[in-house]
Amino acid sequence: MKRLEELSDQIEKSMERLHFSGEPANLYDPLNYILSLGGKRMRPLLTLLGCDLFHGDIKKAVQPALGIEVFHNFTLLHDDIMDQAPLRRGQATVHKKWNEPTAILSGDLMLVKAYELMMKVDGVQMVKVLELFNQTAAGVCEGQQMDMDFEKSDSVSVNDYIQMITLKTAVLLGCGLKTGALVASAHESDADLLYDYGVNMGIGFQLMDDVLDVYGDTAKVGKQVAGDILSDKKTWLLLKAFELAEGEDLAILNKWVGERDTTKSEEKIAAVKGVYERLNIRQLATELSENYFLKAERLLDAIPVEKERKLPLLAYSELIKERVS
Ligand code: IPE
Ligand code: IPE
Ligand code: MG
Ligand code: MG
Ligand code: MG
Repeated sequence: MKRLEELSDQIEKSMERLHFSGEPANLYDPLNYILSLGGKRMRPLLTLLGCDLFHGDIKKAVQPALGIEVFHNFTLLHDDIMDQAPLRRGQATVHKKWNEPTAILSGDLMLVKAYELMMKVDGVQMVKVLELFNQTAAGVCEGQQMDMDFEKSDSVSVNDYIQMITLKTAVLLGCGLKTGALVASAHESDADLLYDYGVNMGIGFQLMDDVLDVYGDTAKVGKQVAGDILSDKKTWLLLKAFELAEGEDLAILNKWVGERDTTKSEEKIAAVKGVYERLNIRQLATELSENYFLKAERLLDAIPVEKERKLPLLAYSELIKERVS
């Protein structure tokens, strides 16, 4: 898919050129560090794809696309403190390499830098882009708070989980795409369909993130294995396991969920994974993720743009669906 490669190249090159300098160096260094570790660059690519879908000028979408990637990386700095994660993209997390105060403050600065980039949009479209961005950023905070609250709760429903991942993850994919559509001056209703497409894809994406947390290849995922099990994250995998488990398996879940003794980490992971295995949880979660991707595709079908034009986005969503990192 030639167009997809071109846009992906454009993002890679623009990201390489993005560098933040200032004093004190230990405030700015973490920004350049986390951004240099790569990642899929999914959100900025979605912005360019969203712009391209509506025949927009790609050059005008690059700065806000970078803004969304910088915002995403800011959320990772804080998320890794919240999740006590030691590894990100195969390297030490910022709060481990420096310390927590640095990760908090560098994260704050990244949010400011993200806004500077988001403002680099022409005329009336800028206000629309910023409104969407503000609403999205508040949603991400709400989702992250729910995610943390759920760790300590034993009454989380599957609906609560879907609402939580919609906010913490999916709305930013929708925002990335719709920002591109706004830059291209697409009709509001078409831009909204694209947003809903992104949200459904984002739900499917986070479901697979939860699967990869347990079953991913560490070398590819670049994160601590089974961190979600250790921190009692109420992922769909765990909620479904609680719903299906009976007898011995239910007793195992009740025994281990909430156990925070780190000397028993390996035992806890093995016990919970054992239950997942017996209840076929990985397969069920993957199927649910695929359903959200299908729902997303139907929304894309409904956008009144020639099929040909949608091919790069379809090809990219296929790659994201099959994600291994
Ligand atoms: C990680 O996002 C945070 C989630 C929402 C799951 P990505 O998996 O897109 O991370 P990178 O940017 O590719 O490293
Ligand atoms: C992260 O969800 C969502 C945000 C960063 C807003 P996770 O906590 O599952 O992301 P990873 O697994 O650490 O990348
Ligand atoms: Mg988290
Ligand atoms: Mg995390
Ligand atoms: Mg995760």
